[in-house]
Amino acid sequence: MDLITMDDLTNDESISLLEDAMKLMPVARGLTHLPLLEGKVLGNLFFENSTRTRLSFETAMKRLGGEVLNLSEVGSSVKKGETLYDTMQMIEGYADIAVIRHPRQGAAQYAADAVEIPILNAGDGAGNHPTQTLLDLFTIRQGHGTIEGLRVVLVGDLRYGRTVHSLSRALSRFGASLTLVSPESLMMPQEIVRDLKSDGCDVSETSDLISTLPSADVVYMTRIQRERFPDEAEYEKVAGIYTLNSQDLTSSHSNMMIMHPLPRVNEIHASIDSTSHAWYFKQAFNGVPTRMALLCRSLGVQIPEVIN
Ligand code: CP
Repeated sequence: MDLITMDDLTNDESISLLEDAMKLMPVARGLTHLPLLEGKVLGNLFFENSTRTRLSFETAMKRLGGEVLNLSEVGSSVKKGETLYDTMQMIEGYADIAVIRHPRQGAAQYAADAVEIPILNAGDGAGNHPTQTLLDLFTIRQGHGTIEGLRVVLVGDLRYGRTVHSLSRALSRFGASLTLVSPESLMMPQEIVRDLKSDGCDVSETSDLISTLPSADVVYMTRIQRERFPDEAEYEKVAGIYTLNSQDLTSSHSNMMIMHPLPRVNEIHASIDSTSHAWYFKQAFNGVPTRMALLCRSLGVQIPEVIN
């Protein structure tokens, strides 16, 4: 099974993955040894930089007894001009499943079409980042126990931010209401907003972050995606436009969650790190159990009902 966008999963399948991830928590933390993926090899193909996605997939595979091959542009024959198609033919011979991150939107689907092994999209340009969405949903359920009925504010670079493209679709399908906060030049693509509305999602758009804070259950901050701007001068106009510090949160609910896919640049001040609102580091850890659950499902490996 490939995972290219969140449309590849039904809500029931997503929930089942989140429940499997919850069962796998002791394995993710290294407290329980459970070599479900012994003998399996993951190809970690990163044509763009990553800390969390690459390392949490690697940890997930290794905690489950599997092996990992890492390919990056530097140090591989990609640098000599090998095509993505040819690279995928090689990976199919070396690995049982592959994770791909690529700067080109659509590259993950292209890779999936080129081979028979399961392909997991770890971010394709400004397109999608569905495995991030799974860990985001897991984290929201950890904090609020549900997704349905929550008021979620998505903030920052909604134009180029693949995390919010995938997450908004999933939240809408789970019955959250959405407030989209961005400057005009970085608004959510209108085709996505149209789809959200046609799903019946209660969605509004504004450029004013502070006014959204008193009623928010989740505030999902994002980095301005500097690397996607065709013109540096356009980036400079919006760099640092949304920042939160602990003073901004005095009107917020005590259980309001601040999330961020990370890396942060200056969107969340360190003064928030020690507050109960800070969920972003737990969120990053949650990449391990959710990606464990996804690797097992994609490789057809059943997770035991009870894990001690
Ligand atoms: N959230 C995320 O994708 O982080 P990395 O770019 O470090 O993988």
